[in-house]
Amino acid sequence: MDKSKIVFALIFGVFFLFLVCLGLILFFVFSRKKIIQKEREKADLRIEHQQKILQTSIAIQELERKRIAQDLHDAISAKLNVVSLSTNVLLADENINKKQKDSLEQILDITSTTLESSRKIAHDLLPPILAKFGLKAALEELFEEFSKNTDIDIDYEIEDLSLSGTNQLHVFRIFQELINNSIRHGKANVLEIFMEEHEKGFVLKFQDNGIGFNITDVSEKPGIGIQNINSRVRILNGEIKIESSKDNGSLFVIQCNYGE
Ligand SMILES: Nc1ncnc2c1ncn2[C@@H]1O[C@H](COP(=O)(O)OP(=O)(O)O)[C@@H](O)[C@H]1O
Ligand SMILES: [Mg+2]
Repeated sequence: MDKSKIVFALIFGVFFLFLVCLGLILFFVFSRKKIIQKEREKADLRIEHQQKILQTSIAIQELERKRIAQDLHDAISAKLNVVSLSTNVLLADENINKKQKDSLEQILDITSTTLESSRKIAHDLLPPILAKFGLKAALEELFEEFSKNTDIDIDYEIEDLSLSGTNQLHVFRIFQELINNSIRHGKANVLEIFMEEHEKGFVLKFQDNGIGFNITDVSEKPGIGIQNINSRVRILNGEIKIESSKDNGSLFVIQCNYGE
């Protein structure tokens, strides 16, 4: 064999080896990419599945709350009202002695405090004003409950939203949780609330003057409250953005789209 043939064979061999290596590298890179993509898809599916479970559990929770509120109203309050009426009839009888009168007055007293407690519990479970007068009225009542007789100042500019009853309840619960968190965790005493409907949906802004919190920590390990807010925002086909710092308090912006 002459020299040039050996050189040619060598170059060819090296080139061939280079092609094989390149092929192998490309194969590994692409298969790795595919594996990573598959893993990501799996993780997304898992998150979606968890979200679905959370959303279903929220829906069931709301149904249960409604049922308990109705039961309280029908089975407890209605019957206690009868007790109260009957006691009043007995009290009106002039022939009863002092001891009987005192006992009947005690029954009346207990009945009325129990009625008030059951009304309060039913109200917390499902505010009746929401179904009767809509979201704006229910929120105004909620803000009033928090600011009346306290040093908490709630400035708000809100309007009614054209949402179904169930979705109005989601917005109401989001506000309940946001206010509770701001006061309990943020120690805030000024809340600025804005909610406006536009052509395609609505926007909600909630700002407190509290001590703020670390958003990364909370988004990695959210509590039940924040998780519920996230699930409700998803049910409403929306997105939530949070900004928080020590000096500027916490800001929550929720944007939701109708009909998508
Ligand atoms: N407005 C806020 N101001 C300060 N901290 C907040 C605020 N909202 C949420 N957080 C923080 O986020 C955490 C998670 O809140 P949440 O999910 O509602 O759980 P929980 O209220 O049960 O602790 C709170 O423990 C708190 O540290
Ligand atoms: Mg909370």
